[in-house]
Formats: sequence, structure tokens, C-alpha cells
Amino acid sequence: MQILIKTKMIQANESDIIKIGGVLNNPARPLKERFRALFTLKNIGGTEAITQIHTCFKDPSALLKHELAYCLGQMQDPAAINILKSVLEDVLQEPMVRHEAGEALGAIGDSRVIPLLEDYSKDPVPEVAETCELALNRLKWLKSNNTKDLQQNSYSTVDPAPPAETTDVNVLRDILLNESKSLFERYRAMFSLRNLRTKESILALTEGLKAGSALFRHEIAFVLGQIQDEISIPALKASLEDTDENEMVRHECAEALGSIATPECYSILDRYLNDKKIVVRESCDIALDMCDYNNSVEFQYANALAKLPIA
Ligand SMILES: [Fe+2]
Ligand SMILES: [Fe+2]
Repeated sequence: MQILIKTKMIQANESDIIKIGGVLNNPARPLKERFRALFTLKNIGGTEAITQIHTCFKDPSALLKHELAYCLGQMQDPAAINILKSVLEDVLQEPMVRHEAGEALGAIGDSRVIPLLEDYSKDPVPEVAETCELALNRLKWLKSNNTKDLQQNSYSTVDPAPPAETTDVNVLRDILLNESKSLFERYRAMFSLRNLRTKESILALTEGLKAGSALFRHEIAFVLGQIQDEISIPALKASLEDTDENEMVRHECAEALGSIATPECYSILDRYLNDKKIVVRESCDIALDMCDYNNSVEFQYANALAKLPIA
């Protein structure tokens, strides 16, 4: 999930972190509140925040668990490697959760996980295998470029692939939509198109919602959420409405609409609050909270610290 963090660093003491972890780990609290607690912990960082996030992998919500893994990856703390490894290895975890654990292992950028990712790049679940393949390519790219991180992007996210070097939209579009190219190359084109953020580059990206594996399509939806441009609404709406589409893709379309947050987005999301797929229902609930946040003067989405009762 892409949240426009208006401020990144949050200072908190250990007892506050445990209280915020209590919100995250409390199934009786509304899911949207638990998400905000999770993003607060992500922004605080450190061992205790990681411990609180780890505990939550027992939760029944695949949506929440995949976001736990995403946040652990974005924190880029090697202390989370063993947690993510056990999630990736656990075949009882849903594919979208294992996928996010694999991606997070790539995001941390530690080459010690290369053998593990090599094993899981042959996983029978395509989303998991493809993710591990991408993560391997990311780690190899870092190694060969002698760097610990990809170049900074204006979205402040740790991406699964660096942007392609060219900025020619036609060339990038051809690579993006060419299913005989490697996934890593197509991802590189995707992130370049995202960074360009022009009408043409965004429309090229929307075409990607119909071209490639479920993993690829869900990442397209994710970057469209980052861009937050209304011109992508029809394509995102069509994929969310398509009940034959993979739920991971529909989930990411819902959240992208939540980031765009126009009145039309509200009404589309409202219609899928009772979808047959729990991941889609929950995503719409979270996306509506993101709409509220994006339309408010609230400074911080990750606001669980400010909401703690004063002792
Ligand atoms: Fe997601
Ligand atoms: Fe994902």
C-alpha cells in the first residue's frame, strides 16, 4: 500500500511502541486503525517495532499480514530477515503474504538471502516464484553496481527494481507490454514510466493492467496508486470490477483508487465493500480510510502515536 507520508521520522519510547503494537495486534479494533498502527510502527522502526509486527503474523487477515511483510521490507532492517524467511517458507501463509515476504527480503538488500531466494524462485506458486526471481535480480543489480540501494525516487519507497535508463515513453511502453522480455526488465520500464509521470506514461502503464502475470498486473496497480492521477481511474475501476481478476490485483486497484481519492473513487469503493472476496472487501475498507485521509488536513496517516490515551 502506498501512503503519502507527510513526515517520516517518528520518535517514541518503548512503552508507546508496545501500546501501538497492542492496537496492531488487537483483532477487536477496526482494521483501518490497525493499519495506521502498523504504519506508525514502520515509521518508528527498531527492534521493538519489529517484534510487535512479527507477533501479528498469526492474524487471520491476509491483507493485514501482507502489509506487515511489506512494512518490514520498507524498513530495510536486517533484524527482520529471519521473520520474513519463516513467512516465505510457510506454505500455510496465503500467496500474497509469501509474495510480500519474498519482495521484502529483496528490499532489505542483504546478499546473504540469495540462496534462499534461489530456492523459492522455483516455488509452485507463480506469484512467489516470480517475486523471488525479481528479488534475486534486484540483489544482483545492487552487487554489480556496487551500491546498497537503488537511486532515490520521489515516492520514498524501496522499489523491487531500478528504473530503466531510457526516458523514451514509446521504448518503455514496448518493453512494459512485451511478455517475452524478463519480468525484471519490464519492472524497470514500469518504474521509469512512473517516474516520468506524464499523461502518456500513465496511459502506457494502464495498458499493463491487461498484459502479464497477476504479479505484474498488481504492481502496475500499485504504481498507479503512487502516481495518484485521475486519468488512471477507468482502468483501475475496470480491474476492480472484474470478478474473474486475481484478488491480489483487485486489492491493489482498490487501494490505488483510495490514494487517488476523488468522489468517483469513493463511490466505486463503496460498491465493493461487500465483495465476495475478503481481501477485496478489506481493501475497500482501508482504501476508503485512505480517501478520508487524502481529503483531510490530517498531517500524518501513521497517527497511532498521537491517538494513544495520555497516561
Ligand atoms: Fe498489496
Ligand atoms: Fe505486492
